[in-house]
Amino acid sequence: MSASKRVLLIIAGGIAAYKALDVIRRGRERGLTFRVILTKGGAQFVTPLSVSALSGHKVYGDLFSLTDEAEMGHIRLVREADLVVVAPATADIIAKMAHGLADDLATTALLANDRPVLIAPSMNAVMWAHPAVQANIATLRARGVFTVGPGAGDLACGEVGDGRLADPLDIVGAMLARLAPGPLAGLKALVTSGPTFEAIDPVRFIGNRSSGKQGHAIAAALAAAGAATTLISGPTAEPDPAGCKVIHIESAAEMLAAAQNALPADIAICAAAVSDWRPAHLANQKMKKREGGEPPRIELATNPDILATLAAAGPQRPRLVVGFAAETERVVEFAQVKRAKKQCDWILANDVSPQTGTFGGAENEVHFITASGAEAWPRLSKRELAARLAARIADHFGKSVA
Ligand code: C5P
Repeated sequence: MSASKRVLLIIAGGIAAYKALDVIRRGRERGLTFRVILTKGGAQFVTPLSVSALSGHKVYGDLFSLTDEAEMGHIRLVREADLVVVAPATADIIAKMAHGLADDLATTALLANDRPVLIAPSMNAVMWAHPAVQANIATLRARGVFTVGPGAGDLACGEVGDGRLADPLDIVGAMLARLAPGPLAGLKALVTSGPTFEAIDPVRFIGNRSSGKQGHAIAAALAAAGAATTLISGPTAEPDPAGCKVIHIESAAEMLAAAQNALPADIAICAAAVSDWRPAHLANQKMKKREGGEPPRIELATNPDILATLAAAGPQRPRLVVGFAAETERVVEFAQVKRAKKQCDWILANDVSPQTGTFGGAENEVHFITASGAEAWPRLSKRELAARLAARIADHFGKSVA
């Protein structure tokens, strides 16, 4: 790691703030340099003197200090950083970040920031589990904020549970991982995942049972490999993966619009189970049952094929377009035909006959299909498969996987 990697560390007001001192020490041992903002709350737990002694630099704390602003304004503080880290990240600063508040130097710097952000949450277990905190964390993750921890264990308040600040060495490890250029750094990826819901009326829809597990795992793997990744997700129970920009949609039409909005991209991976049809007419009011009446007839219209649209030749075509094919027989043969028909570069073809347990399961077994042939990949967890695909993509773009 070159000595030039600069971290802007924000120490917020939690009892674990003292561990941030160790983060600085361990980080400097690994060649990182630190500028530190100590919030008012943080300064209740650690002194500016100990932080500046460990970081070797002046500590910043007061937005309205004229000397600080003259020496280094909050904008410059973030512009000069390669990574912004909040450790410990309290429920309060997480909420402020999620809602865009800027009432001190730390939150103003965070709002003026365009660098990658890593947060290490730390709080009481009940606070951590609170829906408000979880919603704020989900918002931040959807914006691409990386998280490390919290871990489980004894908490300073005497309770036991999730909420413990990640170990300083793990925080430094997460920083180094974010700072190391991954094999896909510089590339832009878009991934579709999950089912689509096609509205019949305001309360009913046509959907399918796709879990989104595979697509979400792929988005996470691409982001972890350094690609700037946009995940376009239908309604799923999967949490937003870290490090991705996540766009939640419902219908195929919305998915297509979001995908086209995410262009230009180098890589497009269509893992969503897009509904082939939608009701041709959307009823504005809930359709009523009529006593003894005929059931309604729902006329269907064909949905756009997102994969085929993205893969069609044109100036915006991503350099690599990958699709999935779920088949129940003659898997490779049918997938080859699909690859040619949809003009995508690769297809991951799986057998989804009920006995395979692929649908909604944690594992997947695919044939990797390109213009030059088919490879049978072993049965892998959906995460392993995603990592293997990311490595294959890195290979394709001539980037070696560290
Ligand atoms: O045609 P079929 O649904 O079998 O093709 C599956 C592949 O096409 C998947 O990659 C899926 O994400 C994509 N697809 C799509 N839009 C559709 C239908 C399928 O992107 N309307």
